[in-house]
Amino acid sequence: MAKNEVVETSEAQIAVHWQEEKYVYPSKKFIEQANIKDETIYERFALNNFPECYTEYADLLHWYKKWDTILDTSDAPCWKWFAGGKINACYNCVDRHLEKNKNKTAIHFVPEPENERVQHITYQELYVRVNEVAALLRDFTGLKAGDTVTLHLPMTAELPITMLACARLGVIHSQVFGGFSGRACADRIVDSKSKVLITIDGYYRGGKLIDHKQNADIAVDLAKKDGQKVDKVLIWQRYPGKNSVPTPMIEGLDYFVNDLLKNYRGKKVDPVPMPAEAPLFLMYTSGTTGKPKGCQHSTGGYLAYVTGTSKYIQDIHPEDVYWCMADIGWITGHSYIVYGPLSLCASTVIYEGVPTYPDAGRAWRIAEELNVNIFHTAPTLIRALRKIDPDLPKKYNHHFKHMTTVGEPIEPEVWRWYHEVVGKNEAVIVDTWWQTETGGFLCSTVPGVKPMKPGSAGPGVPGIHPIIYDELGNEIKAGEGRAGNICIRNPWPGAFQTIWGDRDRYVSTYYAKYCKDKNSKDWRDWPYLAGDAAMEAEDGYYRILGRIDDVINVSGHRLGTKEIESAALTVMEVAEAAVVPVSDEIKGVVPDLYISLKPGYEPTDELAMKISAKICETIGKIAKPRRVWLVSDMPKTRSGKIMRRVLGALSNKKDVGDVSTLANPEIVDEIKRVTS
Ligand code: WT7
Repeated sequence: MAKNEVVETSEAQIAVHWQEEKYVYPSKKFIEQANIKDETIYERFALNNFPECYTEYADLLHWYKKWDTILDTSDAPCWKWFAGGKINACYNCVDRHLEKNKNKTAIHFVPEPENERVQHITYQELYVRVNEVAALLRDFTGLKAGDTVTLHLPMTAELPITMLACARLGVIHSQVFGGFSGRACADRIVDSKSKVLITIDGYYRGGKLIDHKQNADIAVDLAKKDGQKVDKVLIWQRYPGKNSVPTPMIEGLDYFVNDLLKNYRGKKVDPVPMPAEAPLFLMYTSGTTGKPKGCQHSTGGYLAYVTGTSKYIQDIHPEDVYWCMADIGWITGHSYIVYGPLSLCASTVIYEGVPTYPDAGRAWRIAEELNVNIFHTAPTLIRALRKIDPDLPKKYNHHFKHMTTVGEPIEPEVWRWYHEVVGKNEAVIVDTWWQTETGGFLCSTVPGVKPMKPGSAGPGVPGIHPIIYDELGNEIKAGEGRAGNICIRNPWPGAFQTIWGDRDRYVSTYYAKYCKDKNSKDWRDWPYLAGDAAMEAEDGYYRILGRIDDVINVSGHRLGTKEIESAALTVMEVAEAAVVPVSDEIKGVVPDLYISLKPGYEPTDELAMKISAKICETIGKIAKPRRVWLVSDMPKTRSGKIMRRVLGALSNKKDVGDVSTLANPEIVDEIKRVTS
């Protein structure tokens, strides 16, 4: 959060404060097979073994050259992990498995149409396909180590194949969530300075073959207007050799990947040994200002961290069929669909479409068919499935040993349903708290060691040492019953390195608040501020309450309130815009948008719809406001600041509290009438 910026309403303020729950214990059967069975892991990763403890994760990988320094703090707080080491992420996720496991399925691609068969891509086939794409990228586009490339791909096997091909060359990929608009894609092309865009013609969602190519046209056009020229657009085809969508190709710019690949059949490309600290990818996420920030993740540290946590927290064994139902366009997918599981030689499932298409039993049919035994999803979907038909999963014969929840706080009621009905009381659940910035898990139970507690993420994972501070920097202790700002005391290898091209914003957003000496090269002086409110129970388990900054979390998707507001402000009639989070039964939180109009314009339903459509066009459908409230004025402080706290209370049907300090207190009743 920038200095002097007062957040007037936050997710944390509207969070449901449920009670502490009793422990639920993992089964003996689970513990017997678990990768980690005893508490000594916490000793190995204790602070007095920091940073050496993390070589345990790095040793899970193949290195061309081992590191000289485990943690280089000379450029604090830009940490360099395993400095001096040389490594290739693609080699670790593909090549090294061939000797023993070339026939094993690496990726099960499940198309949305149920009559299309699942594609099972073995490690050998993955190796061949990744090499061909790497050859194409190198020889046709000229991309080389250190260059950036934007991917705007949906959930098909081509996405991880493209990512791995980039990683093979040391090219920094920046995958934009497929559901984002062409405008949002353009902004990320510009910020990352990409000269190449890789996309697909179409994909299935909710029974429809979506024309995705049109987003590429918009993205390239808008990026050019903003000063970034895209030289080549590479387009995968949902059905190779067939035109699936009406949007035409642009001569001299667009190329079908499948046509080009004919020239690279069977080509092999040596993986490029990359410095451990070389960036592997960028992942854009929302922050307190309108501009999304490109979180820059490293190669060696990141891969070590996601491999280690996939093994110990996800408890992945090479023989598991692992299904994380997130989108690879988010960090969850990068870390825990692609890099972590493949590095461990698991079989990872990629499902193209809507989880409830054509009906709410789809997920369980996929799990039955592929014999999935580790299942990973978000509370929003769990809530939705429970609402549609709470008994449905009982009719299916899937069996999970392990389940994950991620992205938002999960209500104990919903947790119990997940455990009893989806997990049939057999599976352990890990509630994993972390962020785009953190690369991998921060808080969770180690499933074979610690009991679960519904509604609590758990203690810091091994090697992560959280601390809660109040606004003044005093520590709030375990069991005090007070919430504060959760921070991590120590660096860890999965943490992002910086915000792409904006080190100052990186330092001020994440490290400035509780840093005592900004010239210090000692990591102890640089606690990481996560931006969430949390509470630590007596037993060291953390309950995450929600965001403390201007970020809201809709169905586990992070949106900046400022981002939505700036989109609304581009509508000509709009004078002022304010977004507040509203609690929602299924999505956790949804945005409500308050608008005041320029003089002379009438509030009409059409105008409200136009504003809503503009937001979908600018960001994507996920940002669509629950309601657009057209009001005659905003509640304001005497200095003219919009009091979002008041709007937040109105939207959430809560007491507005003291409004006497407002410059225009009378507006509150008027808005109350409009919104009730
Ligand atoms: C924000 C990060 C991490 C992958 C998905 C989201 C919230 C995340 C939990 C959880 C309560 C959670 C936090 C966090 N969050 N996991 N298990 N319990 N809240 O990544 O888009 O960067 O969002 O999601 O508020 O700060 P992201």
